[in-house]
Amino acid sequence: MIPFLDIKAQYATIQAELEAAALKVLRSGRYVLGEDVKALEEEFAAYCGTSHAIAVNTGTSALHLSLLAAGVGPGDEVITTPFTFVATAAAISYIGAIPVFVDIDPVTFNIDPNQIERAITPRTKAIVPVHLYGQMADMDPILQIAAKHGLVVIEDACQAHGATYGGQRAGSLGVSGCFSFYPGKNLGACGEGGIIVTNDDKQAQQMRMLRDWGQDRRYHHVTQGFNYRMDAIQGAILRVKLRQLETWTEARRTRARLYTSLLVNGPVEVPREAAGRRHVWHVFAVRTRDRDQLQKFLLSEGVETGLHYPIPVHLQPAYAHLGHGQGDFPAAEAAANNVLSLPLYPELSLRDVEIVAELVKQNAYVD
Ligand SMILES: Cc1ncc(COP(=O)(O)O)c(C=O)c1O
Repeated sequence: MIPFLDIKAQYATIQAELEAAALKVLRSGRYVLGEDVKALEEEFAAYCGTSHAIAVNTGTSALHLSLLAAGVGPGDEVITTPFTFVATAAAISYIGAIPVFVDIDPVTFNIDPNQIERAITPRTKAIVPVHLYGQMADMDPILQIAAKHGLVVIEDACQAHGATYGGQRAGSLGVSGCFSFYPGKNLGACGEGGIIVTNDDKQAQQMRMLRDWGQDRRYHHVTQGFNYRMDAIQGAILRVKLRQLETWTEARRTRARLYTSLLVNGPVEVPREAAGRRHVWHVFAVRTRDRDQLQKFLLSEGVETGLHYPIPVHLQPAYAHLGHGQGDFPAAEAAANNVLSLPLYPELSLRDVEIVAELVKQNAYVD
């Protein structure tokens, strides 16, 4: 069996260090925020090239706090992509703001900057590009449009730890950038976790308060906040893992290159790294007309795959109130119907990449 993801394999490579870090926290008696979380914030901000990082309990909370700190309020419109995990839209909805979808570029799977301007109205407040699968959205035109219309840009970098655009790290280009540390992410906690990076001193301070009940000092609540604090044990674990992130990312890139060389000009369409960007391959999604059949065939041969994502957000029952229907965002809908994520993680053997590619070639046909 070749699993889609093997978190235990990664654990085994750094088991002693992780267990020592976790044990230290267990013995410290300090289980929420604390020293390791603070150090993680400093180290992750340095990694992203930003002046602040604010650790929280999930990537969704990171998005929620970023939107709040940027001044997005009830009734405001926030432009984003329908081809994302539902959390992107959910964070917008938490505020009572309205997600306004813009279709994707079918090559990168990310929001198509050429279609953003026509979605802008007097109520538009922000743009939330999602760096899907580990490749950054086309940020230059997005930032230009935002500047022209006075909008804020918040990066959903939940899948893109360490990705770059023009040499700059994901999270550092917008007013803030949000990351998830869900276990399967490129940098994953042993539980839930998230972080926001920003260069904006005021917003950083506000987000720090908002994650901890809106208090500026103990039991003095200047604003209505949340319990979005990171556990101490996750901070300690993530610090150990952050030290491996570049090695793991290069291992992902090697495996993506191998898949590409074996599958290019073959029966499925392979994903591409756009010029000037560093793709960190959170997901390696090929496209094929008969995706479900290929998925079944691979499973019958012992290869697990994933679907990211089979239903775009605008067609989810939870967002029916927005009034969208089939055909509204054709590129997102086509992607949802024909993407198939192949196994890709740093510990996946190169031999297994070859086996998967061989099976794909045997079975699939061109889109
Ligand atoms: C694009 C995207 N946005 C937001 C999230 C939400 O992150 P979390 O699951 O940590 O809340 C995720 C991951 O699950 C994601 O992939």
